[in-house]
Amino acid sequence: MLDKVYFGGTYAYKNFINDDERLELEEWILSKKELMTFSRPINSEEDQYTPGLKRHFKVLHPDDKKPEIFHRVRNKLLDLENITNPLPAPGNLDWIGIVGEGAYVEPHCDANFPNYYTVRYNLLVSFPDAGGRPIYGDEILPVEEKMLWRCDAGIVKHSSEIVKGDKLRINLSYGFSFEF
Ligand SMILES: [Fe+2]
Repeated sequence: MLDKVYFGGTYAYKNFINDDERLELEEWILSKKELMTFSRPINSEEDQYTPGLKRHFKVLHPDDKKPEIFHRVRNKLLDLENITNPLPAPGNLDWIGIVGEGAYVEPHCDANFPNYYTVRYNLLVSFPDAGGRPIYGDEILPVEEKMLWRCDAGIVKHSSEIVKGDKLRINLSYGFSFEF
């Protein structure tokens, strides 16, 4: 049984993946690092322009080749959340991201399609030893590595604390459009 926890006006599932799955996802995402970029800056996020590019980000397009585990995790999420007719999120669709020391996500809301709001399910494949927690509305969320947490990204302002230390923050984000 998955342990569902509630905090900050949203909820999360603890240990949504096991250690082997975590490693598999981590290896896949790290292998894409060279393809990641913030070549189209969004949200005027300052740390996109710092030397060393501390934030890495890649949108996963429908035709992109993805490992089997990407689909397995997605199917588990669809089942659990009763999403029977998944509609993609605008713009960033699904994405993978890596955030290193000193970087963070600046406050923003995601784009929405008319009459829909964007919801993202974020899987924390790697979580730093300090910092890097999501700030959701006004609350800092006590998330953990291997947790999947729901972010109503189109309607709740969100950001993150600055990542501290060497351990990377690695996120796999599944995006959907839900009807209002
Ligand atoms: Fe966002």
